Amino acid sequence: MAIISSKKQPPDPDRQPKQRRESVTAPPQQNMLQPEAAIDEQGKQEDSIRPQRFADYIGQKDLKDVLDIAIKAAKSRGQVLDHLLLYGPPGLGKTTMAMILASEMGVNYKITSAPALERPRDIVGLLVNLKPGDILFVDEIHRLSRMTEEILYPAMEDYRLDITVGKGSSARIRSIPLVQFTLVGATTRAGALTSPLRDRFGLIQKLRFYEVDELSQIVLRTAQFLQTPVREDGAAEIARRARGTPRIANRLLKRVRDYAEVKKLGEITETVAAEALHLFQVDPCGLDWTDRRMLSVIIEQFNGGPVGLETIAAATGEDTQTIEEVYEPYLMQIGYLSRTHRGRLATTAAYKHLGFKPPNQQLSLL
Ligand SMILES: Nc1ncnc2c1ncn2[C@@H]1O[C@H](COP(=O)(O)OP(=O)(O)O)[C@@H](O)[C@H]1O
Ligand SMILES: [Mg+2]
Repeated sequence: MAIISSKKQPPDPDRQPKQRRESVTAPPQQNMLQPEAAIDEQGKQEDSIRPQRFADYIGQKDLKDVLDIAIKAAKSRGQVLDHLLLYGPPGLGKTTMAMILASEMGVNYKITSAPALERPRDIVGLLVNLKPGDILFVDEIHRLSRMTEEILYPAMEDYRLDITVGKGSSARIRSIPLVQFTLVGATTRAGALTSPLRDRFGLIQKLRFYEVDELSQIVLRTAQFLQTPVREDGAAEIARRARGTPRIANRLLKRVRDYAEVKKLGEITETVAAEALHLFQVDPCGLDWTDRRMLSVIIEQFNGGPVGLETIAAATGEDTQTIEEVYEPYLMQIGYLSRTHRGRLATTAAYKHLGFKPPNQQLSLL
């Protein structure tokens, strides 16, 4: 760990940017590197490229190993799968995994999301209609209302609904038995779950960013569904720019396909992919406007850091949560940002990528 003086240093003329990137000064109209699903990515076409079986789910080996054992154990005992919490940045395959679990267990699934479960009757309606072994998938589970959450406690623990009947002093609790089911919760913020809810999950699993070779395989697989010829080096070029995220990889592939088709370039090669993604202003490392803005604020205004999260949020117009859950994990993964207790630091690699001169030797130790 390098020690960096917290004293403000005088401006150093050498530290002036060599070049300024256009894209840092203005956010693009449409963000292709946004990990959340766009409207057109939630429909039927998306489902056709979604892996349906365990074997088609690429990467996430640790997660698959754990779940494979859980499935086999549950099946051999004739029991339902333990409640499962999946957490990690958007677009890494949480929903997909919940669907695969249902198909591997041979059960049905229902998909809902915490904001849709505002009133107690919303969750009660779903619970009483479940068939034995069914999977109830609750997205954004950290956003459950307190009442809904309290209904879930006995439902998850004892497969029981406790309903209050009557009001005031004559109020009584009536218990209704439920069938055994599996709750699969997904969240980008495991830390935001209350501990009673978190404690009721038998399995808590983190999804990690994908490696370039895993993303390449995903691109090649999706290309088959889209009937688009892609060469391996073309898939790798798309993968490198996809921020470790399958959803982004698939989206970039579609845009590159459009480009190749319109220009009648035939097969998607590395050159074709690079040309197309350059045209769409997708950075060679998958950085988007907010990433670049974050890094350039740290570098230009704070000599590389450390800078507090609040300051970065104010400079980028993003909220602190989004920065912590979506932007920082990827920047740390590729080694452009490091997090210390005093704040965020830009690394030498970040200086170089953005075209700034790295300040001194100390930073290069980071
Ligand atoms: N492991 C994987 N292998 C292949 N494709 C994947 C994988 N994980 C995700 N995808 C693709 O990425 C898209 C987004 O995944 P999704 O499960 O909706 O992410 P999340 O729910 O975590 O936001 C899916 O449509 C799917 O096609
Ligand atoms: Mg999802």
